[in-house]
Formats: sequence, structure tokens, C-alpha cells
Amino acid sequence: MMNQEKVIVIDFGGQYNQLVARRVRECNVYCEIYSYRTDIEQIKEMNPKGIILTGGPNSCYGEGAPSYSKELFELGIPILGLCYGAQLMMLLLGGNVEKAPVREYGKTEVLVDAQSPLFENVPKSTICWMSHFDYISKAADGFSVTAHTADCPVAAAENREKNLYAVQFHPEVLHTQEGTKILSNFVRGVCGCAGTWRMDSFVENSIQSIRERVGKGKVLCALSGGVDSSVAAVMLSKAIGSQLTCVFVDHGLLRKNEGDEVEEVFGPNGAYELNFIRVNAQQRFYDKLSGVSEPERKRKIIGEEFIRVFEEEAKKIGKVDFLVQGTIYPDVVESGLGGESAVIKSHHNVGGLPDYVDFKEIIEPLRDLFKDEVRKAGLELGIPEHLVFRQPFPGPGLGIRIIGEVTAEKVRIVQDADAIYREEIANAGLNKAIGQYFAALTNMRSVGVMGDERTYDYAVALRAVNTIDFMTAEAAEIPFDVLQKVMGRIINEVKGVNRVMYDLTSKPPGTIEFE
Ligand code: XMP
Repeated sequence: MMNQEKVIVIDFGGQYNQLVARRVRECNVYCEIYSYRTDIEQIKEMNPKGIILTGGPNSCYGEGAPSYSKELFELGIPILGLCYGAQLMMLLLGGNVEKAPVREYGKTEVLVDAQSPLFENVPKSTICWMSHFDYISKAADGFSVTAHTADCPVAAAENREKNLYAVQFHPEVLHTQEGTKILSNFVRGVCGCAGTWRMDSFVENSIQSIRERVGKGKVLCALSGGVDSSVAAVMLSKAIGSQLTCVFVDHGLLRKNEGDEVEEVFGPNGAYELNFIRVNAQQRFYDKLSGVSEPERKRKIIGEEFIRVFEEEAKKIGKVDFLVQGTIYPDVVESGLGGESAVIKSHHNVGGLPDYVDFKEIIEPLRDLFKDEVRKAGLELGIPEHLVFRQPFPGPGLGIRIIGEVTAEKVRIVQDADAIYREEIANAGLNKAIGQYFAALTNMRSVGVMGDERTYDYAVALRAVNTIDFMTAEAAEIPFDVLQKVMGRIINEVKGVNRVMYDLTSKPPGTIEFE
């Protein structure tokens, strides 16, 4: 990303830090996030076209509150402060920040009072998202106030000569009507970014740089069929072709037909050259899981066995030079390293892998991308849409969707029930409307009656949630007739099931998966 024009976000602990960077990238400007602890010399070296200071939970005048060197404002780089970032800018430059007489929270009418590059093509009255206890009671010298609200005299201020801008609201939040326009006005207008960040050029540049880095080396990639590993593998394949080997471990806990579907796309009859090796290790996993019902123990066993199988395959291949990891940008940000040093994704699946496999370096081709950008890159690379827009599927697979002991028979039941559920959700046109949905097998058996016979069979639970970040979720409202149809089909078509339930639990207190 050396020659790419970039804007950096300095993070003061706000909950929307990643959102700010994503919105900037939507303006086709490359953007990275750094902690407020990042040294100013490092910031200077990056030579950003602009800097955005995020919100944060503290009071900027409080003792020990996150701050930054005042020198930042003297670099001649355009700066936009958001919420806490705006208050900090004012405080450091001589304005006043104090506890507001009235807390502002939620959608708020902001009145633009003056012509400003930041508010170009923004109406004089516009709805913005506010969330603050403190307010700027006096803007710093040299600043003029450009917007206010009923309770907030300084909703926006600027020192146009020095290219310093401050807004009390959150333009990155969707509730701010003109948020994207305001951010675009800053990065494209004030900072003068050309907006050249595009997935097609990213893909092209990455392929080129992978080719240069790898040379004639040998590369190994664990392919799960999930979005990240698929996109990484195809990118590598386009870059270095036959020097790449991809190992796909079928642990027998995949969705119905999924192993074959992955093989169809990536195997020898598929469109890519990636020396695809499928390891059918189903029975090994079932043997290891036999008699085990404790959830964490199950996850551990699946993870460890995965490594063992992968290691055996890797040994057959011999020494490799590079190992591919599907790390994506949120992993980098959440690990707190903000791009400063290499992070190895501690994915439960491949956790510890580097210890077991003999290799020299790690390649992380998606390290700079957000999930939606990974998907765009996937489409650029010509990966089929159904793979690119695949739902998240946990590494331990159906192992955590079967409560209690895992057996081949239970896997068959949950696979069949889940396939029916997914089919009917798609038939009802709901597949894109629901965040994540699947069937799980409860460990409960109960008495039922079918025909003239008494049954004593399993209960299947249907789960469907809407979520933005997978940290919280709400049960999705699925029309009753769709649920009834799914229930009818599961009871009729899946042997061993005599009851179907719909899980209404939100997260918290529930989790999305069952174990
Ligand atoms: P929970 O159940 O924690 O799930 O509410 C949140 C999201 O994470 C996925 N998930 C996992 N993904 N390995 C994964 O790769 C795991 O062990 C795992 N556990 C949960 C889950 O599918 C949901 O999207």
C-alpha cells in the first residue's frame, strides 16, 4: 500500500472506529486506523493526505484521558475531529470543553450556519447522530462556528486556513443523513484525495506483489471454502499458479454436500489452478469426538485434530516457503496492533499452525481489507456469488450445532434438517434478508406420535438472527407459514426427528451458535 494516497484515523477508543475507516473507503480513499498512542514521527512518515480523530468514551479534560501531541495540528495535514476528537482538538488549541447542561443523544437536527467546504451540498438543516455528555462551550481562537443545534452551540467549527475541522456529531453513523457526503467533502474536497482506491486495482496490485515476493517459492494454503480462505487462495493461484498447494480438510462437520461443492469449485475440474488436496478425515473426527459432550472440549478436539490432519498433509508436500493466512483488517485492528506488526490470526481452526508446519514466511493477502471489501475482491477474481456471499460458518462446523455428543447419525440429521431450512428460506426470498440462519440438533428426545406409532425422537431447533457485528443479535421474524412449511418437511423427510422448535433468544443472553 506504499504508493496509495491514504487518510489515517486516530482512534481514541470510540465504538465506531472501524466504521469511520469503512466509510472513508466507500469514498474510494484508502484508510487505516492507528491508536492515539502511535508516535507522531510514525504518522509523519506515513505522509497521510488527511487525518481523522475519532470519538471516545472519556472526557478530554479528565486526568489521564487519551490525548495527542499538539504538534499534530502544525503538520499542515488536514484534520477532522469527530465528537471526542473535535473536543480534544478545541481543548488542545485553547478552546473550552465542559460538561454540557443537556446531554445530546440520538438523531438531532443540526443547523448549518455558514458556507463551509465540509458542508458542500448539505442542506442548512440536516439530521445527525449525537452522543455526548461534554460539549465545546467555546471554539479555539482562529476557529469559526459553522453549525449548531438547539442544545449545542458548537456543533461544527473550522479553521479553514489551517484545514482543521471539528464536528460534534458522528458522520460515520448511518443515522447521520449526509454523513457520507460530509466525509467525502473532507477526504476528497479538503484533503484533495483523488479517490483511486478500487478493488480491481487492489486485486491487480496484490497479484503483482505476491508474484514478486514469492518468486519461485512454494506456497501452502489451508482452504475451508469460507469467504476469506477462498479469496486468498484464488488470489494466490492467479499470482503463482502451480507453486500453490491448497489443502481442504473435510472434518465431516460441514453442511450437507458442502465438501463436494468446495471440491467442485476448487478441485481439478474447477476453474482454478491450485493443486487442491481434499482430505476426507470424517471418521477420524467422529472417533475423536465419540463420548465427548462438553462444548469447549469438543471445540478443542476439532481444532487439534484439524491441525494434525493438516500437518500430515504438509509433511507429504515437504518444505514450503510460505504459508497463507486469511487474516482480514478487523482482525488486525482488534488485536490492537493497528498495522504495526504481523499478526497471526488465532482462528480456532489454524491456531498454532505455524508451529507445526515448516515454512519461512506468512502471506496475508487480505490483511488490509474489511469483510465487504474481501467480498468485492472475490467478485473481481471471478469467484461464484454463492461462495462470495456465503454465510459465516464456524470452524468447528456442525460440531457446535449438535448439543452433546457428536455422532455420524446426528450429523446426518442436522445436515438434512438444515438443508431443508436453507432451501425454504431461499424459496421464500428471505436468504439475503436474514443475517445468519441454520438448524441445530438439540440433545432432547421426546415422545411423539406419527401414524399410529409412538415415537421417541430428537427435537431440531431452527435459529435465525439479524446482527450487524455478531456481538449482539436479535431473532429474525420469519413468517409463520414459512416456519410451518419447514417444520412439515423436516418431520416428513428427516428420519429421527419428531419435533421442530424456533429459537427466539437474542444475544445476549444467548449466543448465535448453540455451544
Ligand atoms: P456466537 O455463537 O459466539 O457466534 O454468538 C458469533 C459468530 O461467530 C461464529 N462462531 C464461530 N466462528 N469459529 C468460528 O470460526 C468458532 O468457533 C465460532 N463460534 C461461533 C458464529 O457462527 C457467529 O457468526
